[in-house]
Amino acid sequence: MKEDTNIILAPSILATNFLNLGSQIKEVEKAGAKYLHIDVMDGHFVPNISFGLPILESIKSGKFSTNGDNIEMILDVHLMISNPSLYIEKFLQAGADIINFHIEVDENITSNLRKIGVREKAALTIKPKTEVETLFPYLEEISMALIMTVEPGFGGQKFMPEMLLKIERLANYREKNNLKFNIQVDGGITLENFKDVVNAGANIIVAGSSIFGANNITEAVHKFLLNI
Ligand code: DX5
Ligand code: ZN
Repeated sequence: MKEDTNIILAPSILATNFLNLGSQIKEVEKAGAKYLHIDVMDGHFVPNISFGLPILESIKSGKFSTNGDNIEMILDVHLMISNPSLYIEKFLQAGADIINFHIEVDENITSNLRKIGVREKAALTIKPKTEVETLFPYLEEISMALIMTVEPGFGGQKFMPEMLLKIERLANYREKNNLKFNIQVDGGITLENFKDVVNAGANIIVAGSSIFGANNITEAVHKFLLNI
C-alpha cells in the first residue's frame, strides 16, 4: 500500500433491493462499512435515472433517529447530473456529508466547490476518458477525488484495468506535492481487483453489485474488510 491512509468500504445503494433499503443499509453498517455511496443520476449527464433527494432524506432521518436505531455512516453523494450548481445546496440540506460532482460538467468548477463550502465535504470525479491532470488545479480544495473505473450510469459493469495507471499518477502527484485527499474508485470493484486498486493508491472503495448483489451481504462486506 502506498499511502498510510485508512481503507474504507463504501457500498453503493444503487445495487440494493429498494424494497429493503433500510434493512440493507443497516446490514452493511453493522458488517463494518463506514461510508454509504449514493448515486444520483439525471438521465442527461448519464443515460440513466436513479433517484434523488427523497431517498437521501429518508436515509438522513435514519441517521438522526432518536430511537437509538441510527445510521452513522458517512453519506457520500455522487452526483451524475449536468447542473450540480442547482442542487448542491439541496443535497447538503438533505444530509449529504460529501458532495461529489463531475469535472466534465459544463459549469464553473471553482464556484461549485465554493457552493459546497468546506473542503471536507467537497469531492470531484473524472470519467474514464478524462485525463487525470484535469483534477490537479482543484486538489487543494477537495477532500476526495474519484477515479471512475467504469463509464458512469449503470451498476454491474466490468472494471477497466487501464484506470489503475491513473490512480497511481494521482497518488504520486499527491505525494510529490504533499497534498492531502482521499482517492476513491467506483465501478466494477470485486474481491479479485480490490487489492489492485488499493495497491495503486485508492483508499475509498465503492462497491455495488459485489456487496448488495451477493447472496449474503454481511459475508460480502466481511470478505472485503478481511482483505484490508
Ligand atoms: C456507476 C455508479 C456506481 C455503481 C457501482 O455509475 O457510479 O457507484 O453503483 O456499481 P458496481 O459496483 O456494481 O459497478
Ligand atoms: Zn458512484
